[in-house]
Amino acid sequence: MFNLEGFSPICPQLRRTTKLAKWAFIFTLTSTALLWYMGRGQKDKYSPLGCSSLKSEKFNWGQINPSDQLVYTTCFGVWQFARLKVPMDWNSTSPVGSQVTIAIIKIPVPVSVTDHRYGGAVLLNPGGPGGSGVDLIFSEGANLTKIINPLSSPEMLSSGKYFGLISFDPRGVNNTTPHLPCFSDPFSYDVWGYQEEADGIDHISDISLSLAWARAKALMETCAQDNDISKHMNTVPVVRDMVEIIERHGEWRAVTERTKWGKEDEKLLYWGFSYGTILGQTFGAMYPNRIGRMVLDGVGDLGDYYNTVWMRGLNDTDKIMSKFFDYCIVAGKDKCALNIDNSTSSELRGSVESLISSLHQDPIAVAGNRTRGPEIITYSDVMMMIRKLIYRPLDYFPEMADLLADIVHGNGSAFAAYKQRAHKPTCPFSKSNSDHDSCQTYSGGWEVTKAILCSDGRDITNTTKEDFRGIRKALYQQSRWMGEFWSTVTLPCVHWRVRPKWGITADEIKGETSHPILWIGNTLDPVTPLANAHAMSKRFPGSVVLQQNSEGHVCISSPSVCTYGHVRNYFQTGDLPAAGTVCQPDQLPFGHMTASGDDLSGEDEISSLELRNEKGL
Ligand SMILES: *[C@@H]1O[C@H](CO)[C@@H](O)[C@H](O)[C@H]1NC(C)=O
Ligand SMILES: *[C@@H]1O[C@H](CO)[C@@H](O)[C@H](O)[C@H]1NC(C)=O
Ligand SMILES: *[C@@H]1O[C@H](CO)[C@@H](O)[C@H](O)[C@H]1NC(C)=O
Ligand SMILES: *[C@@H]1O[C@H](CO)[C@@H](O)[C@H](O)[C@H]1NC(C)=O
Ligand SMILES: *[C@@H]1O[C@H](CO)[C@@H](O)[C@H](O)[C@H]1NC(C)=O
Ligand SMILES: *[C@@H]1O[C@H](CO)[C@@H](O)[C@H](O)[C@H]1NC(C)=O
Ligand SMILES: *[C@@H]1O[C@H](CO)[C@@H](O)[C@H](O)[C@H]1NC(C)=O
Ligand SMILES: *[C@@H]1O[C@H](CO)[C@@H](O)[C@H](O)[C@H]1NC(C)=O
Repeated sequence: MFNLEGFSPICPQLRRTTKLAKWAFIFTLTSTALLWYMGRGQKDKYSPLGCSSLKSEKFNWGQINPSDQLVYTTCFGVWQFARLKVPMDWNSTSPVGSQVTIAIIKIPVPVSVTDHRYGGAVLLNPGGPGGSGVDLIFSEGANLTKIINPLSSPEMLSSGKYFGLISFDPRGVNNTTPHLPCFSDPFSYDVWGYQEEADGIDHISDISLSLAWARAKALMETCAQDNDISKHMNTVPVVRDMVEIIERHGEWRAVTERTKWGKEDEKLLYWGFSYGTILGQTFGAMYPNRIGRMVLDGVGDLGDYYNTVWMRGLNDTDKIMSKFFDYCIVAGKDKCALNIDNSTSSELRGSVESLISSLHQDPIAVAGNRTRGPEIITYSDVMMMIRKLIYRPLDYFPEMADLLADIVHGNGSAFAAYKQRAHKPTCPFSKSNSDHDSCQTYSGGWEVTKAILCSDGRDITNTTKEDFRGIRKALYQQSRWMGEFWSTVTLPCVHWRVRPKWGITADEIKGETSHPILWIGNTLDPVTPLANAHAMSKRFPGSVVLQQNSEGHVCISSPSVCTYGHVRNYFQTGDLPAAGTVCQPDQLPFGHMTASGDDLSGEDEISSLELRNEKGL
């Protein structure tokens, strides 16, 4: 089945990892980036699975032949790669129309297709929009596999179902081709990003607003030029692509193992994060009979998204910052660097707020040294740091405390270093440039996010600059910590005149799915508040909301054996938790442990331990 001839399958991690780390910084520090995205994408995290001898070779999707079927190339015996050809325009009747080639990655089911324990492959989407599903499998695939598969207790092993994972880069994203032609090369993309960062986002600066306005116009007009893909990369055709993937997966099963293939009857097993919940809900409305399992985690509001409003994301954001100050006080000086004088939560908050507001007029000047150039720290830099780190309090609150302490009590050198770490070029300046894959072509960045969400959303091109000023103000009033940044989400849409060939409206998205949806919402999520999950569940009868009592974006920002147990049980048996179920996280930020014993069976503890061991806890 695998086409290994003349091609040694090779994994990308070592070379690509370096690139990813840089991208992730650029994504999150300088731009609107992945808004509704679950990944941390920050550290080098792909441990090579005993294949270091291959690291000098280059993984190249171009070496995999695109096919109408799923033809996999195995890499390191763990990951399988395929490129699936689909029509660019699903409504075209022409047999020779343009095509999209979707990059697909799979972690196979660990038992044979004919084994009674074979459960199928769960399709994933990481969010964004514009997030790379390929990257999701590299970074979180191993953990997610553990969550949905049977625990290691003997009864479960003999009776449970086994699942693999499939994910893909959606249209316009990363390894899926063609790309949007927004930047001619990686260098011009980087320069644009640095300039945008320097322009800043500041609600009291008219200059900052006018620069953002002009930038959005120049960028989106470029992305709309000379291409066909822009009309075909909204959510609806991606839903249709997903149908194709599960169909072709059924076919692959049939061909490989001579099992039955329920043509036009293959069911979707799905776990969507963040924007992936919009994708999942849209799928649920278009193909309600195709739902086998669907977990929607970190739920986006359909009306807010499809009407290009984006006013329902930040309801809980500032409450998370209040928690930050509270946790910092409880953590004490040793664990929370900001808490140097044993003050109260509101005193801490006051000192941070007053420093930040002084930055509007007086940015901090930080002299360089021999290893770091001179730097300034602006209001916008600090707000963007917070907007980034608030997605994952458990992982990042200590770092946020260090950085805030450095500017409130220190001299800014740690913050300057943080800022400059983000400035590594996509394509490194070195003699071996020509050899570096990130230098060969430009495969898209955060502008893809904008193109997708603007295409999905109602046309707002009649918005004036004055309207935009009002939107920025309203969002700032909703959240003083993220509102200004959030106002840049819809700004590109003001300048996006492309309309999708095949779209959908929010009102159409509802339905009676063949299996009820499991929604997951954190008590406080910075961009997809819990209230969204409850509101959206009303559109899909029989679905249930599971609440996880943590702060952060999507449930895996804060591991919980209780939540994982419910997700596993849902995939294993189809059973939903009782309505009103609330799960505790295993841990709180700054190393506080929780007493979340009640909900846990012995088995859950085993899996929790496994996960923790992996994390080195
Ligand atoms: C495209 O085809 C689908 C069915 O495959 C149909 O539901 C939809 O209305 C069509 N869209 C357009 C724009 O023709
Ligand atoms: C794009 O895919 C490659 C694998 O081919 C992966 O290493 C990389 O992280 C992805 N890039 C982004 C920006 O997600
Ligand atoms: C925002 O949160 C408050 C409670 O904190 C709630 O009453 C309100 O309905 C929420 N608004 C939205 C739009 O979800
Ligand atoms: C810090 O404050 C707490 C109460 O807020 C108090 O109990 C403790 O003694 C103080 N510690 C120091 C070192 O001042
Ligand atoms: C800034 O603070 C750091 C850490 O406290 C210290 O190592 C460094 O020497 C200081 N730099 C200057 C220029 O004062
Ligand atoms: C320069 O400053 C950074 C922090 O901003 C520090 O990590 C580094 O060690 C300093 N280099 C020298 C040579 O002092
Ligand atoms: C823009 O046009 C839409 C109709 O397409 C209308 O509902 C909306 O009020 C207009 N907005 C502005 C700011 O004029
Ligand atoms: C997934 O695994 C990585 C490393 O193995 C770990 O750092 C990370 O915290 C894990 N994620 C979850 C959600 O457990």
